[in-house]
Amino acid sequence: MSLPDRAIEIAAARRILAAQFEKAGIDTAALDARLLIGHALSLDHTGLASAAKRLLTPAERDTISALAARRVAGEPVARIVGVKEFWGLPLTLSAATLVPRPDTETVVEAALAIVEPARRNEPLRIADLGTGTGAILFALLHEWPQATGLGIDIDPQAVETARANAALLGMEARAEFRVADFNEDLTERFDLVVSNPPYIPTRDIAGLAREVRDHDPRRALDGGADGLHAYRAIARRAPYLLKPDAFLIVEIGIGQTADVEAIFNAADGLEVVAVKPDLSGIPRAVSVRHRGRKTA
Ligand SMILES: C[S@@+](CC[C@H](N)C(=O)[O-])C[C@H]1O[C@@H](n2cnc3c(N)ncnc32)[C@H](O)[C@@H]1O
Repeated sequence: MSLPDRAIEIAAARRILAAQFEKAGIDTAALDARLLIGHALSLDHTGLASAAKRLLTPAERDTISALAARRVAGEPVARIVGVKEFWGLPLTLSAATLVPRPDTETVVEAALAIVEPARRNEPLRIADLGTGTGAILFALLHEWPQATGLGIDIDPQAVETARANAALLGMEARAEFRVADFNEDLTERFDLVVSNPPYIPTRDIAGLAREVRDHDPRRALDGGADGLHAYRAIARRAPYLLKPDAFLIVEIGIGQTADVEAIFNAADGLEVVAVKPDLSGIPRAVSVRHRGRKTA
């Protein structure tokens, strides 16, 4: 995949790349062409539009061609540009972090809906289990200016990336990150616990789109034989992580509602109180209330 070896305008380069991407079966061809050319030229959407008639230099053409080749080989745009926006916040990525998905914003919406508006300015404490880039935690801290949070992840490089994002977003005083396992005791009680854990059944990973299978970290995807391992671990720990009447909100995969509800309803002192669909109508965020443990 490459641009022709002659002088072309930015607008023409966008059209050529979009056509090549479409031919390669990429659904978001025009968008990807715009994002990659914008990245190569350090121009945003408006900048690209106003520079539409400018001729690309040979060096710019080479850079764009190299990026386009990576995209056609299956690398997602977010990986190529190293940044993905989540809840309007730009987040840097690393090899150890999942590319945050728009579906995960359903978890943020569920949290905003379930925590009473009157508590918005309280110093709420939030835990994000399997934080990756820190996406969910940063979105909530952005919405709740007095809140603070702890993000944990089993992957040290993911924790480093989340810390870097905290600094870039100016949230380092409110967001702390630590390497820890879902099973570990965090020795603190939270007002809200959120998690988008790995939930793909191991045998399904080979059949995922190559953008996901070959580029998202395995640890971010693999939910064990039935896809539910992380939920079981989180359900065991949640009664010790939540204050009484506090909520846990987890993202789920397609078809997992009944199993995940059963796991949390069977846990000591926990009850599922809501299931929120994503924009496609797929059940995506399960909200669980802690009504106090029966046993110590
Ligand atoms: C699906 S990704 C979600 C990342 C981020 N929260 C998001 O929504 O974009 C799951 C994350 O859980 C982490 N993880 C996997 N197993 C874990 C475990 N046993 N304990 C803690 N974190 C784990 C992975 O490293 C990964 O960052």
